Amino acid sequence: MRRIFIEAPAKINLGLQITGVRPDGFHSLESIFSTVTLSDKIEVSLNPETTGISLECSGILSPPGKANLVWKTAKIFMDKTTVRGGVGISLHKSIPSPGGLGGGSSDAAAVLIALQKLTHSELNLTTMAERLGSDVPFFLLRKGSALVTGRGEILHPVVLPHFHCVLVHSGENIPTPAAFKLWDAHKGDLTEACPISNYTALKFGAWHEGKPFPVRLDNHFLTLLHSRFPGVTRTAEELSRLTVNWGLSGSGPTFYALFRSESEAKEAEEQLTGKFPWVFRCQSR
Ligand code: C5P
Repeated sequence: MRRIFIEAPAKINLGLQITGVRPDGFHSLESIFSTVTLSDKIEVSLNPETTGISLECSGILSPPGKANLVWKTAKIFMDKTTVRGGVGISLHKSIPSPGGLGGGSSDAAAVLIALQKLTHSELNLTTMAERLGSDVPFFLLRKGSALVTGRGEILHPVVLPHFHCVLVHSGENIPTPAAFKLWDAHKGDLTEACPISNYTALKFGAWHEGKPFPVRLDNHFLTLLHSRFPGVTRTAEELSRLTVNWGLSGSGPTFYALFRSESEAKEAEEQLTGKFPWVFRCQSR
């Protein structure tokens, strides 16, 4: 039996603009995705003497068996490869879900990568990744940061200044499909578009003391969620008291605040801990 241990990092969205609704009902986006040092830990094994897929979960509660995206990922992969054997997955979750941090998508990408290595197959993982979820192609890329457009499949790696960050969960349950439905119903209420940056340059300079982070952090979902989720409003207010460099990740409800130094991030962590159900300090990868 062979086994591989792999980390599945979380991402934050440094700005997010919804640019339209596609014929397939999905939305086109513009966002800079950046991975951080919070991660799920996954062990994948392949046993030529057994069959089927087994999943053990620990850490933050996640769906059991077939209901988990990593199980579906293994099934899709094993149906495509000619290599036979049973797949065992042990998943330790640290990334809250739903959170807007891409945890499930990152787990799926990690399992694809692990199975590709274990089976020595040369399958096209990109097609499978797109089928599994809009954010999975980004995690498959294994680059720290990328400008992400289309439904999530058009990726341009970018290099950002290093940052320390504090992640804060508002405590509310906001599943991604519900957030997009809210967008469909209320996009007309939004008066201001938020161009994130001039993407033709795609080069980000240094981040200087006392200056804003060199990427616009506005998120279209924030405007929509504000009036509907009191925890979202409270988190946004609390973070804006600490720094101008804060934003909502994905469709929420996790926020981030960015800092240049570890000591500033630690100070912010101390101020936020106890006020919110989940606070986590990490940094860019
Ligand atoms: O692709 P994923 O499974 O992560 O998407 C979850 C849901 O979020 C989709 O069913 C869709 O409702 C919505 N979504 C969207 N446009 C995207 C990404 C997600 O409409 N680009």
